[in-house]
Amino acid sequence: MIIVLFGAPGVGKGTQAAILAEKLNIAHLSTGDAFRAAIKNATPVGVLAKSYVDAGALVPDDVVARIVEETMEAPSFANGCILDGFPRTRAQADALQQLLAAKGLAVTCVVNLNVDDETIIHRLLARGREDDKEDIIRYRLDVYNKETAPLLEFYDGAGLLTSVDGLGTVEDVNERILAAIAVRQ
Ligand code: AP5
Ligand code: MG
Repeated sequence: MIIVLFGAPGVGKGTQAAILAEKLNIAHLSTGDAFRAAIKNATPVGVLAKSYVDAGALVPDDVVARIVEETMEAPSFANGCILDGFPRTRAQADALQQLLAAKGLAVTCVVNLNVDDETIIHRLLARGREDDKEDIIRYRLDVYNKETAPLLEFYDGAGLLTSVDGLGTVEDVNERILAAIAVRQ
């Protein structure tokens, strides 16, 4: 099972992905977490990604592909995975499709979490990660709307998209996502 958790910054992708990974016993890949770890350890990918992550811009697709390919080779991914924050461009979606096809796999479903911008800004300011400054949050939202949101149409066209209300408690949202996944399996 390959589930893509989709949505703007702060909609709850990471929170929900961690719970789903445990409940469904599959791996969790957050490209954002992977980049932050790579930056912390000053790996070659971390050095390439740092200025983009700091600014809230998208890391170039070829660098993203490197970190995704490396991570998905791990044995823990054999059972399937939750992809959190990837893909974010059409080129990344195509790369994912190729990577999975080479293993005889395909995306099971894409779950889009919907949360309004003001709630997102409120949540992220309260979290306070390095890139959770109001101007950078607004820029990340712009980047999402311009570069990532168009993928919704692509996945809808492929019959893979399901949208879920991301407002409410973490548990409520989790139940909605599980219900959405159940009908797609
Ligand atoms: P990434 O780490 O993916 O950040 P993001 O997309 O901006 O999303 P966040 O992690 O901020 O939010 P989330 O949806 O995971 O929400 P969370 O669960 O944390 O990417 C960071 C950067 O890396 C990018 O800007 C880019 O530079 C680079 N990057 C990453 N992937 C890339 C890619 N594929 N291509 C190119 N570049 C890439 O929740 C947010 C807060 O809300 C938390 O405090 C949480 O506790 C709280 N919360 C969650 N759910 C609820 C709820 N139901 N009610 C109340 N509070 C809640
Ligand atoms: Mg996250």
